Amino acid sequence: MLRAGIDNKKNPLILCGLSDDNIDRLRSGQPIKAELWSFGVNLPGTLSIIHGTTEADIEAILRKHDLIRTDSSGKTDPRIVAEAEARAQHKHILIAMCGLPRSGKSTWARKTSYPIVCPDAIRLGLHGQRYIELAEPFVWATAKLMVRSLFLSGHKHVVFDATNANRKRRKELESPDWGLYFKYIDTPKEVCLDRARETKDEAIKPVIERMAAAWEPLSEGEKLWP
Ligand SMILES: Nc1ncnc2c1ncn2[C@@H]1O[C@H](COP(=O)(O)OP(=O)(O)O)[C@@H](O)[C@H]1O
Ligand SMILES: [Mg+2]
Repeated sequence: MLRAGIDNKKNPLILCGLSDDNIDRLRSGQPIKAELWSFGVNLPGTLSIIHGTTEADIEAILRKHDLIRTDSSGKTDPRIVAEAEARAQHKHILIAMCGLPRSGKSTWARKTSYPIVCPDAIRLGLHGQRYIELAEPFVWATAKLMVRSLFLSGHKHVVFDATNANRKRRKELESPDWGLYFKYIDTPKEVCLDRARETKDEAIKPVIERMAAAWEPLSEGEKLWP
């Protein structure tokens, strides 16, 4: 482990770089511990690093090594617990975005670091235009093929980045081969229109208006990604 630090009294910074060996050690369930002073900062205390697949695993490792007291409960993020439950239920998970154009779907999708299937990107790759009616059956067939092939090549999660504004579209994403969850980016229409205005994208504005007017909210049977 490479240790470094900046000993600034107001804002001490601790840097720790893990080597492949360190990562292997963590993966085998061994925590890494280091005194804070060993980073070159004038601070009492110890830094401990743990790795686990789920937060429950991490809590078990912390208890095993007496890093937390037996009567103290580890603080878990309910969102991560819900994600772990979904992962335990399904071998493959399709997270379908849901939201108006400019709501922030692609921004969220990129943050996950999961592979993204995006009909808008397929359109640009295929014919270079935002929308050509004649090409749409091919765009959707390509999108579905991409989802299936990403799962077959070993990905556990795939994000489907489209507006998915109506039930018919969302229903088409169902399959016995994966669990389907929706990530709804609930940005108000006015904000989406402002964003379109800021980027001088006049063409998208009527699409936003039309889609907002015909929006079909998610129903109870449509599961939300946490
Ligand atoms: N959470 C956010 N807060 C502020 N701006 C955002 C947020 N998410 C996205 N944006 C901005 O909004 C614009 C549209 O985002 P994008 O992810 O492309 O939307 P979509 O894929 O739904 O059309 C981009 O300029 C992006 O930087
Ligand atoms: Mg997008």
